[in-house]
Amino acid sequence: TIKACIFDLDGVIVDTAVYHYKAWKRLANSLGFDFTEHQNEQLKGVSRVRSLQLILGWGGVTKTEAEQEQLATQKNIWYMEMVNQMKPEEILPGAKEFLTTCRKVGLKTALGSASKNSMTILEKIGITDMFDAVIDGNKVSKAKPDPEVFLAGAQALGVLPEECVVFEDAIAGVEAAVAGDMKVVGIGSPDVLTGANLVIKGLDEMTLDKLYKL
Ligand code: G6P
Ligand code: MG
Repeated sequence: TIKACIFDLDGVIVDTAVYHYKAWKRLANSLGFDFTEHQNEQLKGVSRVRSLQLILGWGGVTKTEAEQEQLATQKNIWYMEMVNQMKPEEILPGAKEFLTTCRKVGLKTALGSASKNSMTILEKIGITDMFDAVIDGNKVSKAKPDPEVFLAGAQALGVLPEECVVFEDAIAGVEAAVAGDMKVVGIGSPDVLTGANLVIKGLDEMTLDKLYKL
């Protein structure tokens, strides 16, 4: 039986995936190269440091660890400039409604995100109190596709992994959920999120009926 829903943040609850992409693109461009939207798919769900390493690799650029730290900080400054402009209306269609539905029928809810900025974003859009637990990039050491973030979520909620459904827009996130023995609903394209049990375009397409049929 399904007892809990665990939600990724970027690209599932809010469209910050676009802000991440813009900020990384700006950083790459400042270093004299660019990367494609297809390459960007590989960054989704991936930690800040690991994302930078992937991008530097694509550009064939080598940086020292100190330089990498500086570049990651710069990216986060540009990213937070966009986040700080966010309004509650920027919550993705259906997200708040589905969270409310889950809570009404007694399903537990958790956030499971790699982002160290999760709490700031939840506060910006005013939905902090809709989660029974928040597991973010400050609380885990192993990044998706490692299941740590979702397993920690299940534990915090007091449920078993197989009683959880994860909502994810990232390939690495879908893999993490599968590795954690959880059901997973992909948010995006079925061609990209091949490992998911079900793929929908957004939470506005999600229903309890679909959830219980997983
Ligand atoms: C999420 C996003 C990634 C991002 C990561 C870390 O998983 O999908 O694009 O790199 O969080 O986010 P942060 O806000 O800590 O840089
Ligand atoms: Mg995401």
